[in-house]
Amino acid sequence: MLEFKPWLWLSPSVSHSLSPIILQLFGSFRDYQTFTWKPFNWRGLEFTNPLGVAGGMDKNGHLVKHLWTLGVGFVEVGTITPKPQRANPGEIIRRDTKQQALWNKMGFPNRGAKSALRNLKGLKSPHFTPIFVNVGKNRTTPNDKAHEDYIQVIDTLREHADAFVINISSPNTADLRELLQPTNLKGFLAPILNVKQKDGRTTPMLLKLSPDLEDQDLFSVLDISYELGIDGWILTNTTTTRTLSLSFPKEGGVSGKPLYDISKKILEKSVNHLGERRRDKLVISVGGVLTPEDVCERLEMGANLVQSYSALVFSGPFFFRDTFEYAKRKYY
Ligand SMILES: Cc1cc2nc3c(=O)[nH]c(=O)nc-3n(C[C@H](O)[C@H](O)[C@H](O)COP(=O)(O)O)c2cc1C
Repeated sequence: MLEFKPWLWLSPSVSHSLSPIILQLFGSFRDYQTFTWKPFNWRGLEFTNPLGVAGGMDKNGHLVKHLWTLGVGFVEVGTITPKPQRANPGEIIRRDTKQQALWNKMGFPNRGAKSALRNLKGLKSPHFTPIFVNVGKNRTTPNDKAHEDYIQVIDTLREHADAFVINISSPNTADLRELLQPTNLKGFLAPILNVKQKDGRTTPMLLKLSPDLEDQDLFSVLDISYELGIDGWILTNTTTTRTLSLSFPKEGGVSGKPLYDISKKILEKSVNHLGERRRDKLVISVGGVLTPEDVCERLEMGANLVQSYSALVFSGPFFFRDTFEYAKRKYY
């Protein structure tokens, strides 16, 4: 584990603004890395290892090449909306280093689908690792028209995405999570899944879930999305629940250690609920995965793939290498 972490000396907003520059500098001197452990093939996509970068780290798809130098198994870019938009006003990120917790209230700041297209077009095909594109709606689009935003981004980026992630679980876009309510989900999701196949290409579509769903709603969301033909689930986004020891604002979402138990419980319940139905589906676990042990634990609980965001902040860019070394000792 890297012990020298100068980015943790900076304020979270400064280190967040600098992280793309640091990553680009770091990546410029290194070749793409392949860390092969538990290789996995799903629907023709080759994952040399099951540990990837979670959504939100590379919002515009301009850091993919640099992330490939870290030895990631796959990359998720976005959330990408049709039109460019700024972050929510006011403070948007905080960090509690002692508790290994992050808080954010970003609200999908990104340069829009056309800009992402320019970035992703620059990558050689087939991609060095699978690229998942996380899709959202602009904050000005009402929920009854939200599916149109998702379809627009999907149509723009179809040629460059190995899979799409439909994100309706962020707590930072007003009313977005309403679309996850079982009564709203079918009307929203059906038209999006209808465009899974186009121009002779079928792109898998995954749904990213909230960790704050009550059991009955979680099971309904899994059932409805399964019936409609979803290809998998990402469990989970940030949480709006607050443990007593955290002094983060009430609004916004929390990542890192406070999400560890919550995200594990959702994984366990989902795997049990889906049973045999998950056989050719993809289940990705994310939330509070901060150590190599955590990565392997999620795999042993039934996740096909694992992602992390907070581990890159609290452990640094060698998290993927450290996990590779740990997994080699554990499994080989
Ligand atoms: C600063 C920040 C920005 C994020 N942005 C996005 C995003 O744009 N889209 C998304 O689906 N998830 C986003 N997430 C959530 C992460 O993808 C992940 O689900 C969550 O942080 C839990 O994982 P972790 O505990 O490893 O950080 C963001 C998280 C953070 C901390």
